[in-house]
Amino acid sequence: MSAFVITVDGPAASGKGTIATALGRLYGLPVLDSGLLYRAVGVGVQRRGADLDDAQAAAAVAASLKAEALDDPDFRTRAAGEAASRAAVHPQVRQALLAFQRAFAEQPGGAVLDGRDMGTVICPQAPAKLFVTATPEVRAQRRWRQLSAQGEAVSQDEVLADILRRDERDSGRAAAPLRPADDAVLLDTSEMTIEQATDAARRIVEAARAG
Ligand code: C5P
Repeated sequence: MSAFVITVDGPAASGKGTIATALGRLYGLPVLDSGLLYRAVGVGVQRRGADLDDAQAAAAVAASLKAEALDDPDFRTRAAGEAASRAAVHPQVRQALLAFQRAFAEQPGGAVLDGRDMGTVICPQAPAKLFVTATPEVRAQRRWRQLSAQGEAVSQDEVLADILRRDERDSGRAAAPLRPADDAVLLDTSEMTIEQATDAARRIVEAARAG
């Protein structure tokens, strides 16, 4: 297929990562998990002993990120998600990560990008945009299962509280808040299995390609 960019945005544990990975495999496209960039910045700030509210310190970490360093299990933890969301409010951090994400999207064959602002800020011209949602309770249960499998001792109620706090911060921030692009297709995965959700996503992409 010719160069084709698919954006998959949505809140934490909505299923967007799983859907993006499945679409990438289906169409043979590289996939960017942009949340990992913000997680790397959040953890990097903490490793330097700096303050997550310090926009300059966080932007310096963002500017020095290396793609090779993203494969770190510490970035997948509950604490990293919270640190990421705090680092992500700073416009300077978002600006420092912009060129890398745009370059990823502009690869000759196309790409799949998942995150919060892929369809609104990074790739507003993308021909296929999905906005994936699920109820907070369903998302908390999914994330709790993931974290438990990684060996994190945490209750479902604590994960739900994390998710609600993160939703509020991600949606309420001034810089690139979490919201669907005007031309995004909404996909609620609350009642869906992984197979049903990826199949629904594939149909949305096929309709976008045809249209
Ligand atoms: O998707 P994930 O849960 O890994 O994202 C972690 C945090 O990074 C989000 O809660 C959000 O604050 C931030 N993020 C963002 N923009 C993106 C991707 C993630 O602000 N494109």
